[in-house]
Amino acid sequence: MHGFDRPIYTNVEYPFPLDPPFVHVDNPTGCYRTDFVIPKEWKGRRILLHFEAVDSAFCAWINGVPVGYSQDSRLPAEFEITDYCNPCGTDKKNVLAVQVFRWSDGSYLEDQDHWWLSGIHRDVLLLSKPQVFIADYFFKSNLAEDFSYADLQVEVKIDDSQETSKDSVLDNFTIEAALFDSGSWNSSGGSADLLSSNVANLKLDLSPRTVLGFRDYLLVGRLEVPRLWSAEQPNLYTLVVILKDTSGNIVDCESCLVGIRQVSKAPKQLLVNGHPITIRGVNRHEHHPRLGKTNIESCMVKDLVLMKQYNINAVRNSHYPQHPRWYELCDMFGMYMIDEANIETHGFDYTGHVKHPTLEPSWATAMLDRVMGMVERDKNHACIISWSLGNESGYGPNHSALAGWVRGKDPSRLLHYEGGGSRTPSTDIICPMYMRVWDIVKIAKDPNETRPLILCEYSHAMGNSNGNIHEYWEAIEGTFGLQGGFIWEWVDQGLLKDSADGTKHWAYGGDFGDVPNDLNFCLNGLVWPDRTPHPAMHEVKYVYQPIKVSFSEGTLKITNTHFYETTKALEFSWAAHGDGCELGSGNLSLPLIEPQKTFHIELQSAPWHTLWASSSAEEFFLTISAKLLHATCWVEAGHVISSTQVQLPAKREFVPHVIKTKDTTFLKEILGDTLKVGQQNAWEIILNLKMGTVESWKVEGVPLMTKGIFPCFWRAPTDNDKGGGASSYLSKWQAAHIDNLHYITKSCSVQNMTDHLVKVAVVFLGVPNSGDGSGVEDTNALIEIDVIYTIYGSGDVVVECNVRPSSNLPPLPRVGVEFHLEKSIDQIKWYGRGPFECYPDRKAAAHVGVYEQKVSDLHVPYIVPGECSGRADVRWVTFQNKDGLGIYASIYGSSPPMQLNASYYTTAELDRATHNEDLIRGDDIEVHLDHKHMGLAGDDSWSPCVHDKYLIPPVPSSFSIRLSPITAATSGHDIYKSQLQL
Ligand code: GAL
Ligand code: MG
Repeated sequence: MHGFDRPIYTNVEYPFPLDPPFVHVDNPTGCYRTDFVIPKEWKGRRILLHFEAVDSAFCAWINGVPVGYSQDSRLPAEFEITDYCNPCGTDKKNVLAVQVFRWSDGSYLEDQDHWWLSGIHRDVLLLSKPQVFIADYFFKSNLAEDFSYADLQVEVKIDDSQETSKDSVLDNFTIEAALFDSGSWNSSGGSADLLSSNVANLKLDLSPRTVLGFRDYLLVGRLEVPRLWSAEQPNLYTLVVILKDTSGNIVDCESCLVGIRQVSKAPKQLLVNGHPITIRGVNRHEHHPRLGKTNIESCMVKDLVLMKQYNINAVRNSHYPQHPRWYELCDMFGMYMIDEANIETHGFDYTGHVKHPTLEPSWATAMLDRVMGMVERDKNHACIISWSLGNESGYGPNHSALAGWVRGKDPSRLLHYEGGGSRTPSTDIICPMYMRVWDIVKIAKDPNETRPLILCEYSHAMGNSNGNIHEYWEAIEGTFGLQGGFIWEWVDQGLLKDSADGTKHWAYGGDFGDVPNDLNFCLNGLVWPDRTPHPAMHEVKYVYQPIKVSFSEGTLKITNTHFYETTKALEFSWAAHGDGCELGSGNLSLPLIEPQKTFHIELQSAPWHTLWASSSAEEFFLTISAKLLHATCWVEAGHVISSTQVQLPAKREFVPHVIKTKDTTFLKEILGDTLKVGQQNAWEIILNLKMGTVESWKVEGVPLMTKGIFPCFWRAPTDNDKGGGASSYLSKWQAAHIDNLHYITKSCSVQNMTDHLVKVAVVFLGVPNSGDGSGVEDTNALIEIDVIYTIYGSGDVVVECNVRPSSNLPPLPRVGVEFHLEKSIDQIKWYGRGPFECYPDRKAAAHVGVYEQKVSDLHVPYIVPGECSGRADVRWVTFQNKDGLGIYASIYGSSPPMQLNASYYTTAELDRATHNEDLIRGDDIEVHLDHKHMGLAGDDSWSPCVHDKYLIPPVPSSFSIRLSPITAATSGHDIYKSQLQL
């Protein structure tokens, strides 16, 4: 990211020929030099040079003396350099030289799907230690069965390798450890009482059975009534390990935050402190739009703050050990973590000419080194509940070795590995990726499977995606043995790039001239590279919300799905809406709901009962929200953690919508091919009787519609529409010409003209458009559409559509109408789902209500444009200019709610542009009102996987829309109401 060589993005393919263990001779290499002076205080001490991470391999020299070589781009390397430095206090500079190789044989183990970026991407430290020092320690706690106390252990490793005396360490030193309840320090206004916060002291255990071996010592102690760590309540203690000389002087000490918690297994369950916690997770790559793989603390904190605010409680470090600070922050914020070894060999396959690394003894030690390095570096972190052996590296004997080592070293956590089909003996969790809902349920119900199922990757968030997450969560919440999953993935891995004209844009594979590349397959995030949440984050927050509300048979159920937290810190409220208008709201005082308990409210005794009983609304919605009473380290007080809308049965019976307008006479004239209808200055519509389309529509003299109303069956393909090569929806649409339909008017005639109404019937034929006019023949029609306009003296227009697609068409992207509005008609108000973007299979979070937005604000800047900005289940919508003049549209008759879309970008433009910044606005606003709109899908992005119920089969359908003029004097709600009356 500093301008040397270029970022390369590939998914599976190695950016160099597969010829292990060799790499290109032409190997981009960075040479670094810096100098430093050893402070005089370090006299007589040992000096360590520590690299937190270098990609992919490096050599280091001190004053020209080679001190070492290392690889594994995500783990530290440490070298003792005491003997190579100039003596302390001489002021003589020491030169550190480092040579970093972009490719090494280690690169074969680092084929993760992300940017290949090389360099020194974490800190480099100089550490000073006494001659004999604490080299390492491993904190463990064993909880009593009733959690009333914890037996504590610390294994301490002492380095006395420079000592010449043959004395044992214990002849000259004592080792002790203590635990402090540092939770009390923050509240003490800076004057923490260290002594009184000392809650446990650990003493050397010299019983022979505990002799651990070479210079490892065991300290033991007990903590009474421990405050347990969990993601909900991340209680931490400060552990201090001290080495003293025989006179009691402190020689060395080390310290870190530790959590007391127990991870264990039960049949089909992963337990934390005895509870089968739910994993509401995401996968997180390390990614910064300007710094690439380099981490900065503010960015890590930003991620955690957002994750907590969106009810995410777990993270999988995909696919390598991350920055050391990340773990401390996850301990503190409360985030369950799977820590993954830096091993991925996706570019190998079992059939190729080279043997797969997991089958080769020659790769075994390199693989083991990576797993051991991870466990050794991260073992004291409370947040880690499971180790992962890596990602997509097949399965073989080397994995058995890795699994054996981890299980032996750290039985206090579970083991995770997806490779080999997610159910091998080397995993304690069934951890499939992208497995379908019905298949995970099947595994959970398999009586022979004793392990819990947690999806290591699911709901592929590429572009406008994440359909069906609610289906996963219905299954997870309703099936014993399913414990959640990790969405793929947290952040769009776009890099900030300057365009030729100086503007910045989000770059993806290929934008740096990188060949080979996998284009935008690195853009699968729930948030943009700058951490702005995608609209799908609302859906994630909703399905992950800890307070669940449901309504059935007159009873409202409020469930606290937490395992540790009661509802003590929450404030509940309710709001009731009838046909979009607020009827009432208030605080909802509830008794304390204990973890995992449900509270019932009967309709008759609920505070909204009278409102409901007396409401004449067609639809009655109740919203229950829970917000935080107090600020936390990740959000201000008042933050809404859960909000659910339920529909109560309406008191009023459903009647099809009809227009109830006063009979008015109005102007109607036919001049040649045009029909002109209007009402003095109020409104005027000109229909082209040859084309069967609107030529102009004015309200109070102001032109509104520039063209319309056409049928429309096509949407700008999303990434999910494109996924799957020849079997993708897009390929099928293209093969069937749905992407390029031309409408010819088969007939258009005035059917009826009375004093009060005019009826015009049009028949359109959708035919493939060859571009040169050939092929535009009736006989090629793929879809036949009747459009019947009924124009009333009031200015209301009812558009009735009957659609007859040819039965051999593939599922359709949409069935609806399209028209274009003047660009000044840019204020949109709708009664439907919102306020954010939502689609038929991603709308659980979007409450039904009346919302208002400007057309330009509806656009969602997905890095690669496509269908976006839709709003689901719209009953009515108004498009108005700043003076309130415009058009109203609503469902009519017994038509169900519609999908709405309005944009300055045409469908063709959204399809054409490859970067959001390339989009060019049209001269008007393209509006779509869809009777049906296909789902977004999201189970993955490489196979067509819209669930059946969100597909639109090519079968006949009918729907009606009412359009009418609107002025500032009235409202969408009033017009809608007028058609609801009996
Ligand atoms: C998975 C893989 C991820 C990523 C994802 C697709 O197979 O583990 O690293 O490539 O697919 O975005
Ligand atoms: Mg991969």
